[in-house]
Amino acid sequence: MKLVVIGGTGLIGKKVVMNLRQHGHEVVVASRSTGVNTVTGEGLSQALAGAQVVVDVANAPSWEDNAVLAFFETSGRNLLAAEAAAGVGHHVALSVVGTDRLLASGYFRAKMAQEKLIKTSPIPYTIVRATQFFEFVGGMAQSATEGQTVRVPPVLMQPIVSDDVAAVVADVALAEPLNGTFDLAGPEPIRQDDLVRQFLNATGDARTVITDPKALYYGITVNDQSLTPGDHPRLGTTRFEDWLSSRSMAVAR
Ligand SMILES: NC(=O)c1ccc[n+]([C@@H]2O[C@H](COP(=O)([O-])OP(=O)(O)OC[C@H]3O[C@@H](n4cnc5c(N)ncnc54)[C@H](OP(=O)(O)O)[C@@H]3O)[C@@H](O)[C@H]2O)c1
Repeated sequence: MKLVVIGGTGLIGKKVVMNLRQHGHEVVVASRSTGVNTVTGEGLSQALAGAQVVVDVANAPSWEDNAVLAFFETSGRNLLAAEAAAGVGHHVALSVVGTDRLLASGYFRAKMAQEKLIKTSPIPYTIVRATQFFEFVGGMAQSATEGQTVRVPPVLMQPIVSDDVAAVVADVALAEPLNGTFDLAGPEPIRQDDLVRQFLNATGDARTVITDPKALYYGITVNDQSLTPGDHPRLGTTRFEDWLSSRSMAVAR
């Protein structure tokens, strides 16, 4: 089977590509660096010719409100139109758990717009909504840092390692379209302040984490329901603690 991975050079994309190739499929790695640009349309029709499945795991280069909305709307329109022209039979996209509950954020309004385009297009689809990746925790800490302190709310999260996300996305790409959405999360809930504290400890980072129920998450108010999965999520198996210790070992070596 021929599959195209849009954003195939990114964190998740690379792993999805590897996974699909290991199953013996023909995979086109599509991103600006391989000559495919979903915003301008460059290279899209050539990449999609003869493909049965398109997996979209691209991300916007800028998360500024207008830029990110323009990215997901324009990319989504161009991509779905090119898929219709090429006769693609399954569009798989990676979104974020709680997108519909986080619309005070420009990033999530853009992800919602991406999801809407997919649902209203005639292409059969599956949307995987994942929780935050373990690899994203460093960035989360950075966005909440002022000087030497990191101020975060003690809200529940259920993050997941990128390897587990990529395995599920590849699995979904090889299955029949659901014409629906499901949540994907890590194996256990953890509070955001604990998560960041554990990450900074494990990476030898001297910043102090302050637990502040009023602290914002990327500029918006969140609670225990905002970032955690709904009923019957699919779960990854890698625990944060185990990932941290394997990561520390890798860094120490
Ligand atoms: N971070 C999280 O915790 C989290 C949680 C749940 C879901 N997600 C979702 O997961 C998805 C993938 O995230 P990621 O962290 O793997 O992304 P990433 O590492 O930042 O990779 C982004 C990819 O998009 C490509 N790209 C950017 N602009 C493009 C364009 N105009 N045309 C074609 N390709 C383009 C990039 O390649 P080039 O630069 O070569 O174009 C790159 O391959 C995102 O949609 C995100 O919303 C993220």
